[in-house]
Order: sequence, then structure tokens, then C-alpha cells
Amino acid sequence: MAYISDDNAAGQKLKKSATQSEKTLLAPTAERLRAEASAEELQTIHMIDVLASEQNISLSFLQQLLALPKNNAVKYLHAKARKAVEQVYGDKIFLRGLVEITSFCRNNCNYCGIRRGNRTLERYRMTPETIMACCKDGYGYGMRTFVLQGGEDPWWIDDRLVDLVAAIRSRFPDCAITLSMGERPRESYQRLYDAGANRYLLRHETADESHYHYLHPNEMSFQNRMQCLQWLKEIGYQVGCGFMVGSPGQTAETLLKDLQFIRTFRPQMVGIGPFVATQHTPFADSPNGSVETTLRLLSVIRLLHPHVLLPSTTALGSLHPLGRELGILAGANVLMPNLSPVENRGLYNIYDNKICIGDSIDHCYDCLSVRMESTGRRIVVERGDFLG
Ligand code: 5AD
Ligand code: FES
Repeated sequence: MAYISDDNAAGQKLKKSATQSEKTLLAPTAERLRAEASAEELQTIHMIDVLASEQNISLSFLQQLLALPKNNAVKYLHAKARKAVEQVYGDKIFLRGLVEITSFCRNNCNYCGIRRGNRTLERYRMTPETIMACCKDGYGYGMRTFVLQGGEDPWWIDDRLVDLVAAIRSRFPDCAITLSMGERPRESYQRLYDAGANRYLLRHETADESHYHYLHPNEMSFQNRMQCLQWLKEIGYQVGCGFMVGSPGQTAETLLKDLQFIRTFRPQMVGIGPFVATQHTPFADSPNGSVETTLRLLSVIRLLHPHVLLPSTTALGSLHPLGRELGILAGANVLMPNLSPVENRGLYNIYDNKICIGDSIDHCYDCLSVRMESTGRRIVVERGDFLG
């Protein structure tokens, strides 16, 4: 078990194995790619430079970027995104310890494995004591942010969640508390913030209203989702939005709306990962989202909003054996290892074939440390607040 006690120790450990030339092979510089590009690739490279300097993208260029074969221009897109993240956050990768506190959910989203209509799923709800024990474990591994995530579980009324947040706040005063508990009334968000929560993740899922209604049952409202994000921001949370890549009904037009929403809303965090077709959901037979498209969108988001905190998600790692490494090399700078006890992990089946189901945090911590060596970046012991 690699128990790290300070930033430097982790950095030293990671520096040892991948040599500089190995790293360069994996992640060529923008300059080298430009030098090796064909005339056609150079045209695209020029457009990528314009995208980065104007921090904007058109529908036609988005379509072009997503349709390209994996050529030097695509590698340049990733290299440029790496440069952008390194200018703001250096070579740091921030860890967020994820605690999946409940798999009960009152919603019935068409893509999600823990939708209430999935009667085959055995549900669980962690006790506050278990949740605290997970945070303590994570703290030992250098995590300074805890993400409490769950379905929209009516048991977690404000009084209970406020008590939990206050307890974590007093026990771990140097840590950020992130909530990811879905749509709640404004007063609820305010009380949780006052109790010590700092950040809130609520993916918008799609910025196109009719696409939203294709992904969700009628009882769910696009307006309310957007309203919640606005409230969270007004209250003072660092806010994360996001969407699945390749969700059924998604088009270049809806993706452009997502990117424009990110440009204007300017969230502190954006979570994206490929859609994974999941049994016992209406979209069980739909095709999975593309890893390659996810990587390109990670880079585009990094260039449109260079300061954003961008996780290389577990869904990416679930669809590609090196998905999380590739996400980091495409401009992501956050990892979210799972702190939930192994006995609960297999039950939080938002999507099928999720990785790390049988692995405890000591295994995942070591695994991620080794994996990140190949990226030339290093996991640090910091809260990893938004800069800018
Ligand atoms: N595939 C990929 N991501 C999913 N999510 C939910 N279901 C799936 C799925 N089948 C994502 C949603 C949600 C987040 C917690 O997980 O975007 O906001
Ligand atoms: Fe969990 Fe690799 S990160 S097994």
C-alpha cells in the first residue's frame, strides 16, 4: 500500500519510472506535431489555434473535429489542451474521494441503472458512520475532497444531510465537501452550504430541451435542472455540470449547445464520460458512446474554458483499458477514485461493466498511481480548488 503523507513524496514516487523519452512518445508536444503535420493537417491545426484563442467553436468545426481520423491534428488538439491545463494547474492531478451514499432514487432517467423502475436492483443506503469511515480512509490516502453522491433518495432529508455535512466539516476542516445528490429546493442547497458543503455536481445531461425530454421521463423538467444549477452558483458553490457523450438522441447540434452552455455558464467543474448502455433501462440496446469522441470533447472543453476542473471519468476507464490515462492526456486533471466499501460498490450500478467494482481503495490508489506515471503528471495531496 502506498500511503502518501505529503505532496512531495507522491511526486518523487511517480517521477521514478517513466523516462522522459517514454513520456514524450506518449504525449508529443504541440510543436513537434505541427512540424510533422501534412498541409491538410496544418489547416485543421490553424483552426484549433483559433478555437483556443477565441475560446469558441462553430458547428461546422465541431463536426469536422469529431469526424477526423486519428491524425496529427487530433494529436495536436490533445497536446494543446495539455498545454492549457498545465499553464493553469501545472502537472498536478487532483483526487476526489467518491462515496456513493445511497442507491435509492425517486427518478426514472431512461439511461440510468439505478432508476426507480429497475426492480432487479438490490438497494442500499450507507449509515453516517460508514460514510465517515470512508472519508477517513480517503484522508489517509491524501484525498482532500470528498464527493457524496447518491440517487435522489427521499430518506436523505435536509436535517440528515445537514448533520452529515456538518460532521464531515468539523472532522476534516482542511477538506472540500462536494455534494452530488441531484435536484433539491433552493433552501436545501442553502442549508447544506451553510453547514459546510463547498461544491455541487449536477450534470445538466444535455442543454437541448427536446433532447432532455428524450433522456428523461415527462415528470422531469429541463427548466428545473437549469434553475438548480443557477441557484447553486448564486449561493456560492463551486458548481459542476456535464453530460454523457453518445447518449441516445445526441447530435452535433445538441453537443454544440452543451459547449455553448459551458462557455456561458462557466462552471468550475465539468464531468463528461461516454454513455454506457445499461441493462434494465429503456436504452439497454442503444450503442455505447465513443471513447475517441469523449477524448476530443475533453480537449475542446479544456480549450474553451482553460481553468475548468475536468475529471477523467470512471466511465471512460470502463470502456477502454487506458481510458483514464488517455483522458488525462487529453486535458483532464481530476480523478475520482471510489471510497465506497466493496460490499456496496457492485450495487451502485449507474451503468454496466463499471470498473473497480471488486477493488478496495488501497488497490485503486496503487493502481491509479502506477497508471498516472505514464502520463508524466502527478497525483497531489490538495483540495484542488478552482483557480481563476
Ligand atoms: N452511462 C454513462 N453515464 C451515466 N450516467 C448515468 N447513467 C449513465 C450511463 N448509462 C451519468 C449521468 C449522471 C452521472 C452520475 O452518471 O450523467 O449524471
Ligand atoms: Fe480501481 Fe484500477 S483504479 S482497480
